[in-house]
Amino acid sequence: MAGAGIERIDRAEAQRRRPEFGRLVEAALAAQSRARAPYSHFHVGAAVLCGSGSVYAGCNVESASYGATICAERSAAVGAVAAGEKSISVVVVVTPTAEPSSPCGICRQLLAEFGGAMEIYAASSIGDAVYAARLSDLLPLTFDRKNLDAAE
Ligand code: THU
Repeated sequence: MAGAGIERIDRAEAQRRRPEFGRLVEAALAAQSRARAPYSHFHVGAAVLCGSGSVYAGCNVESASYGATICAERSAAVGAVAAGEKSISVVVVVTPTAEPSSPCGICRQLLAEFGGAMEIYAASSIGDAVYAARLSDLLPLTFDRKNLDAAE
């Protein structure tokens, strides 16, 4: 993860920029410990901050039919919506890699439903590194409602 608008920082800097970061990363780490990843053994946790101020966490849940697997980020977002939330402003995702892994393409697309200004913090669960970006930096030229509305 590197590129325009994407910065490599550490947890302390993430906390300075976003006061809820500590709460979010703790929730994401707790969810990571509950990940169900018997095939990849790659345990991921995520937490989202919603318009109400509440935080929802999720983890990856794998299926033997691999395509049925859900990632931690979508798991967290789906839980938030099911709980009644209408907006998501911040996502923290933790992966067990020294260089944080960023959300996959399918997760970026689903998160885009909540707007490109969303802050994404991809943190290592085994180190201090954090990548900070806006969703629009990770998914430029997004396909969204405007494209559907533009159809003739
Ligand atoms: N995974 C996530 O949970 N989030 C991502 O953004 C990337 C990948 C999960 C899916 C699968 O269970 C495992 O990591 C390996 O791909």
